Amino acid sequence: MLKYPRMEKIPADIKHEIEQLVKDLNYHCYLYHVLDAPEISDAEYDRLYRHLKELEEKYGYVLPGSPTQRVGAPPLDKLEKGQHAEPMLSLDNAFSHDEVREFDQRVKRFLKSDEEVEYTIEPKYDGLAMELAYRNGVLYKALTRGDGYVGEDVTVNIKTIKAVPLKIEDADAPEEVDIRGEVYMDIREFEALNAEREKAGKPVFANPRNAAAGSIRQLDSSITAKRKLHLACYGIGAVRGIEFKSQWEFITWLRKARFPVPALIKRVKGVDAVIDVIKEIEEKRKDFSFETDGAVIKVNDFRLQKALGIKTREPRWATAYKFPAHQGITRINEIIASVGRTGTITPVAFLEPVRIGGVTVSRSTLHNWDEIDRKDIRVGDTVVVERAGDVIPHVVSVIKEKRAGKEKHFNPPVKCPVCGSAVERDEGGVAYRCIGLNCTAQVQQRIGHYASRAAMDIDGLGEKNVELLYSKGLVTHFVDIYKLKKDDLLELPRYAEKSAQNLIDAIEKSKHTTLARFLYSLGIVHVGEYAAKLLARNFRDLEDLYHVKPERIIEIKQMGEKITGSVAHFFNDPGNLQTLNTLKSLGLNISNPDYETGSSEKRPFEGMTFVVTGTLPKSRKEVEELIESMGGHAAGSVSKSTSFLVLGDDPGSKLQKAKDLGVKTISYSELMSMVKGEGRLF
Ligand code: IVH
Repeated sequence: MLKYPRMEKIPADIKHEIEQLVKDLNYHCYLYHVLDAPEISDAEYDRLYRHLKELEEKYGYVLPGSPTQRVGAPPLDKLEKGQHAEPMLSLDNAFSHDEVREFDQRVKRFLKSDEEVEYTIEPKYDGLAMELAYRNGVLYKALTRGDGYVGEDVTVNIKTIKAVPLKIEDADAPEEVDIRGEVYMDIREFEALNAEREKAGKPVFANPRNAAAGSIRQLDSSITAKRKLHLACYGIGAVRGIEFKSQWEFITWLRKARFPVPALIKRVKGVDAVIDVIKEIEEKRKDFSFETDGAVIKVNDFRLQKALGIKTREPRWATAYKFPAHQGITRINEIIASVGRTGTITPVAFLEPVRIGGVTVSRSTLHNWDEIDRKDIRVGDTVVVERAGDVIPHVVSVIKEKRAGKEKHFNPPVKCPVCGSAVERDEGGVAYRCIGLNCTAQVQQRIGHYASRAAMDIDGLGEKNVELLYSKGLVTHFVDIYKLKKDDLLELPRYAEKSAQNLIDAIEKSKHTTLARFLYSLGIVHVGEYAAKLLARNFRDLEDLYHVKPERIIEIKQMGEKITGSVAHFFNDPGNLQTLNTLKSLGLNISNPDYETGSSEKRPFEGMTFVVTGTLPKSRKEVEELIESMGGHAAGSVSKSTSFLVLGDDPGSKLQKAKDLGVKTISYSELMSMVKGEGRLF
């Protein structure tokens, strides 16, 4: 790339010096960032770097692999899309050693051979899959995995990762090679980043994977550059001009070509040895600087990989062994009945704090009283608690041998613990609900929900502030938010000139919103983000929904009966319509970019049957409603006609049944990709 005016002729010695500096700097960069074994001081590196930069500027001679090309790209308007030359597949899972043995059996059966197979095993990195395309040794494009076929072009961001070679040195650089790997953030860096963000009042990332994904999908690469990302390369896509016989040979080449490879890779023969390596990785896992939730097992020989081929979206030659979810043992000190936005009362356990997988857990949802009965959970019990990914910790089981006899049952409340109103059992019979319309807990949570990020997105109106404003009588309904005056805020202990102004500004800014967001903000029962979007697609504006007839909503085929009933009820209530009019008179400006004129009914899950099992980030009911809203059928048990089993944590017997019948399993996030239309429907 030529960034500076080129001089007529560059003296040969200068040219040579620049080339040498690029080589040296890249080598030192590799020693530091890949091998973690620097030979020169940071100051010396900086001196050489500055010298190179001066020479490049003076003579206009910038080599494509120059370290100065890692930073300084102007911010983008959006990330462009790019196609993978070879699709990026996903991996099948094995949840036990026995399932790893079954995988090995399948491989042998498919190859019609009794001979022990050679495998490679490495940690599964919890980051973001990436493809780096090199042409004649120079990095020219980096794409995220996307849907496996088309990803986002994050080339300028990837270049800021110091461990990524801009140019392949010291190895035979082929004409074309697409290298795959995982971009990730170290746990310590993730924690430091979150601490910094918390201090600055910015939202924190839920886990290192989200932090890595958020950092790599930036429009401004100078932000990515500050995020200390890493890369581990483990796979190959399209290739021309070099031939590898096996995964091991490829990894060896990667090392020689100075690419960072996984922290541990082993090559062994036979499944017993594979299981030994899995155990080793699990033991070493706590010492790794990065988060890993399993090990990836691959058939080593590329010829055998080819013979085994691909089934749907996953290769038959690889699988991901998932470590059992993080668990810990602790005591339930107390159980409380917590009242949510819609009045639902959920039992929550307060635990003796326990460290699980690097996080201190002191609360756990018990979901509902059926769950308490089923697991026979009592106050004072010693329990096994599990935390998996970003899912809220839950109680797996009670260790009954530890009971002393003083443990107490926790009965459902007969009165709302917050407002004292009566409590009703839901139609389904599982949930208890406070019927008090003015229940403080419900009102506060409705206000909090209204202001939350996915709703009206009012920065600075979190749980604590809502509680304060509510207790002072300043905001007792979300309409009051728009009546807040800076002077009112300044009288409260928590607000100073600047913070008060910030809140007023955030409220003002939130007045311009979309119909989809606004509908979600209203907290209409059963209307989540997706249903709100569907409504926005089908109704021109807010007034279009006033006095709506249920027949018009149910016509939108993705809509289930429950949502329809709830929406129609809401928009036929005179009090609600008055509230909406008040909001508009207070300056709310609602646009509707989602409205689809003559919108055709989209039922992408038409003809598919889903079964949902295990603990998911949302309740099973919500997930099933979502499936039905997309035209799919949600069934209660697995059969031959099941298209997908949606797998949460702690899945139970349905998983085995699905395996026996050859029913495909998908994770919650895979389901969400399908919902968003990111995944391919097959
Ligand atoms: S190999 C066809 N190796 O896991 C197989 N993947 O669940 C391609 N991942 O999309 C993947 N560490 O993002 C492979 N050592 C590793 C990995 C790994 C993490 C991720 C990758 C992939 C996902 C599949």
